[in-house]
Amino acid sequence: MKGIDHPRNEVSLNTSGNESISDVIAKVDVSRRKFIMTGIGATALASAGGLTLSGFAHAVTPSPSALPAAGMPIVPISFTPVPPNLATSPIDAVTVPDGYTAQLFVAWGDPIMRGGVPFSGTASETAAQQRLAFGHHTDGMHFFPFSERNGQQNSERGLLVANTEYTHEEILYPDGQANYSLAKCRKSQAAHGVNVMEARRRNGRWSVQRNSVYGRRIDANTKMLISGPAAGHALMKTVDYNITDSESTPIGMTDGTYSYGTANNCANGYTPWGTYLTCEENFNGYFGSATGTIDTSANTEIGKLNRRYGISNNGFGYLWHTVDPRWDVDTNPNGPHTFGWVVEIDPFNPRSTPVKRTALGRIKHESVQYVVDEANNLAMYTGDDERNDYIYKFVAADKFNPRNRIANRDLLDTGILYVARFDANMTGKWLPLTPDSVGVDGVALRDNPNFAGDNDADVQAKILIKTRMAADAVGATMMDRPEWIGARPRIDGFEELELYCTLTNNNRRGSSATPSANAADGSTAAGSARPTVDAANPREINVHGGIIRWREDGRNARATTFTWDHFVQCGDTQTSKAALPTNDFKGNIVDNPDGSADYGAPDGLWFDDFGRMWVQTDSGSGTGDFSNLGMDQMVCVDPSTKITKRFLTAAPQAEVTGVTMTPDGKTMWVGIQHPGDSAGTDNPEEFTSWPHSQWNFASDGVTPLNPGRPRSGIVVITKDDGGIIGT
Ligand code: FEO
Ligand code: CA
Ligand code: CA
Repeated sequence: MKGIDHPRNEVSLNTSGNESISDVIAKVDVSRRKFIMTGIGATALASAGGLTLSGFAHAVTPSPSALPAAGMPIVPISFTPVPPNLATSPIDAVTVPDGYTAQLFVAWGDPIMRGGVPFSGTASETAAQQRLAFGHHTDGMHFFPFSERNGQQNSERGLLVANTEYTHEEILYPDGQANYSLAKCRKSQAAHGVNVMEARRRNGRWSVQRNSVYGRRIDANTKMLISGPAAGHALMKTVDYNITDSESTPIGMTDGTYSYGTANNCANGYTPWGTYLTCEENFNGYFGSATGTIDTSANTEIGKLNRRYGISNNGFGYLWHTVDPRWDVDTNPNGPHTFGWVVEIDPFNPRSTPVKRTALGRIKHESVQYVVDEANNLAMYTGDDERNDYIYKFVAADKFNPRNRIANRDLLDTGILYVARFDANMTGKWLPLTPDSVGVDGVALRDNPNFAGDNDADVQAKILIKTRMAADAVGATMMDRPEWIGARPRIDGFEELELYCTLTNNNRRGSSATPSANAADGSTAAGSARPTVDAANPREINVHGGIIRWREDGRNARATTFTWDHFVQCGDTQTSKAALPTNDFKGNIVDNPDGSADYGAPDGLWFDDFGRMWVQTDSGSGTGDFSNLGMDQMVCVDPSTKITKRFLTAAPQAEVTGVTMTPDGKTMWVGIQHPGDSAGTDNPEEFTSWPHSQWNFASDGVTPLNPGRPRSGIVVITKDDGGIIGT
């Protein structure tokens, strides 16, 4: 399976926040010492295994230096834009503006913890070696700064936590999937998941601290806790396994409160209490049926689940299920139900167990974005990246407590999950997904056969495990593939709770002479409906995508109504494609000169603390509808004027995904995923040999970047004059 076969759900992390983490941090009116005394007990410190206090305090330590004060102008977007990287004359490098320097920070296979070995270039590394090294295809990430004793956040030392979403099997092994074995499966599983790296700048140069006590890999076999309303439900009880390099041996059944592994970790989020959130996106592709007998009946419970979540006999071709029974739904039918969640990880405690937070719903989570309003109400926004799927909001029952980190520990377990309906009058409604929510058929969810149960707790668990089906029932708006959601910071006098979501594309929107919608009974196969255009998704054959945004009524995170508009429709100003009645394929990107910042298939979307929006693309190889736009890129956008400039272009056939900054704004990390996406085993470097095409050494300055195959990786960008990125 070539990387290009990784589903694009046909063809977006965010972080900062309406209230950015720095906003929240800046509000905390306690000294670091007091926080440690009250928020983290001695037991917690002891159990952390000798971690520094600064590690715990980082999330609630005041940050006096990072943010301009309210009312001050945002930092300008004043860099000189870069041209598109056209497929007809490709540059085998990551390009940044004049006056900036990009360095490789980490690439697939680089050791990130003790015992790791330098990457060979041949992909001969074992699963055990992969477990100590950066995973394969990098995605969402976040920088957690260390704190100084004076309470300042450190912009030269912290933890960079990054997802690695999936594997490109022809690149991962010397001979691809030939003679597929459990050993190969274990290496693929070890190359998925989450990477915790200590990042440090010395003498101006950033590198991964390879012997750091914080270095950690969480992968597709790591034990996880399951919490929230679906924990312990019968549908969450799976076969339990003893998992080693030589076996996955059944050892009975779980009780539905734990599981193993996280997979297809696309984008991410973080919490204002300093934990990382990783999102499980295309988990369905790893499951299969050894006997080829998946139930896809529209009339059975498991058949509907398989249809709506896209579980199939062969998955995406990973072959895990052929050698590891945990991924074979014949023997482990509830296995898929333990994926599709948002997982919370405490990066500062290497011994912490990741927690799957079921209250946020089970979908193909792209990213998750928090907002804390003035009254400390907490909302989490998340998009379901599939054609015709939905945008969700979780509202915590309890308020965020900025003074006590421990008090927030289980905030994501109790609350209400809503799904968005975008109405034609430019208002919208958050539709609750609870037992007494009434569907479009007039029946409460507790009486809907998909969710009916012994009691409301049972009903609520089913609603969350079958989130897509509950959203179908209440009449949510089918979107053109919701990707990342970002929140505009409340600075510069801007006070709204304003969220932005990339709708990456939907080339089948409005394409059918016999339109169809997701059936209210939850039986529609994933992505198979063929809706007409609507107010929120107004373009037929929407190949270039766009960005939609909404404001919560009353500036209240608990609001159940909002107003919305389209921030931008993407496109190609120079296109010669024949216009359709609802789509001229040119879009309305605001740039100067016109067309200079054209982009399409927006995916990553993130606001920095200075109020600028960064948008990253996942458009393919820069051909066809993207031939004038070039290969994938990242643009910087002023949300007030909409003026857009191109900041970065990637190496050939690489997606740009994942972005984060230091608190001082002077260092930015950007993820470069799947360079050489369509390369095969016989010639891995057919299209690119990045990153060794651009640099000779790894971030330690001494380890050679061996040739042999392209490698996904993260670049670190600084401005040569030491200024804030984007200026
Ligand atoms: Fe993994 Fe929707 O991108
Ligand atoms: Ca993405
Ligand atoms: Ca994408």
